[in-house]
Amino acid sequence: MAEFRLPKNSVVKKSGKTHAASADAKHKRNFKVYRFDPDSGENPRYDNFEIDLDACGPMVLDALIKMKGEQDPSLTFRRSCREGICGSCAMNINGKNGLACTTAIEDCKGDVTITPLPHMDVIKDLVPDFTHFYAQYASIKPWLQTVTPTPSGKERLQSPEDRAKLDGLYECILCACCSTSCPSYWWNSDKFLGPAILLQAYRWLADSRDEMTGERLDELEDPFRLYRCHTIMNCSNACPKGLSPGKAIAEVKKMVVERHL
Ligand code: SF4
Ligand code: SF4
Ligand code: FES
Repeated sequence: MAEFRLPKNSVVKKSGKTHAASADAKHKRNFKVYRFDPDSGENPRYDNFEIDLDACGPMVLDALIKMKGEQDPSLTFRRSCREGICGSCAMNINGKNGLACTTAIEDCKGDVTITPLPHMDVIKDLVPDFTHFYAQYASIKPWLQTVTPTPSGKERLQSPEDRAKLDGLYECILCACCSTSCPSYWWNSDKFLGPAILLQAYRWLADSRDEMTGERLDELEDPFRLYRCHTIMNCSNACPKGLSPGKAIAEVKKMVVERHL
């Protein structure tokens, strides 16, 4: 497992505020939550939130919603679908990247420590800045590119076998759990595309309908963009959708080698 790294924003104070559960709560659990407000001028801190598990849903996201609704409305985090589809609630929970909405509280041991995704700039509390990540995604032109005209009045067809080659790729929800668990991405994210974006790049290279394979490989064949991956596979261990970005990167490297044979 990767060494755990906090977000980029400065030194974290050990403790901040404590929000106690009601005195009659029988099953309490303490959550240590990373707090950072750039407008305050203060260092980040951890706040403690005691949650009555008998009055809370089963997932870590349920606890966060309860904290915000009942204890501190200024607590800031992203969420949308609540079923592991949108990727918004990606964060680090007890040292492991994952989705708050699909991580069960009962599977977390001891105090539950929650921080934003590691080694990202933080906008506020648990919200990382995805500007650079999305710019890298746009750079791989994540859409079908063709030169031949569409067969008149028809879709571009694909055999079931060719369609099956996209399995394990199209399911990516761009949560960035993989990229932010990758040591190479921590240190070289200015130039290395990272596992999430490289998996997406392979999704288009593997698509039988796409006609820009050579151009796509030209763009990727670079000592930093692709080859900063050293096949440590932290990325594949981190993916909450069970995908293997490390394997996809290996396929891209294979395609690069084969075109020079
Ligand atoms: S396999 Fe490559 S992309 Fe995945 S964690 Fe290791 S270095 Fe990063
Ligand atoms: S490969 Fe997995 S961990 Fe990486 S962005 Fe996609 S869904 Fe998230
Ligand atoms: S809220 Fe959409 S993935 Fe968690």
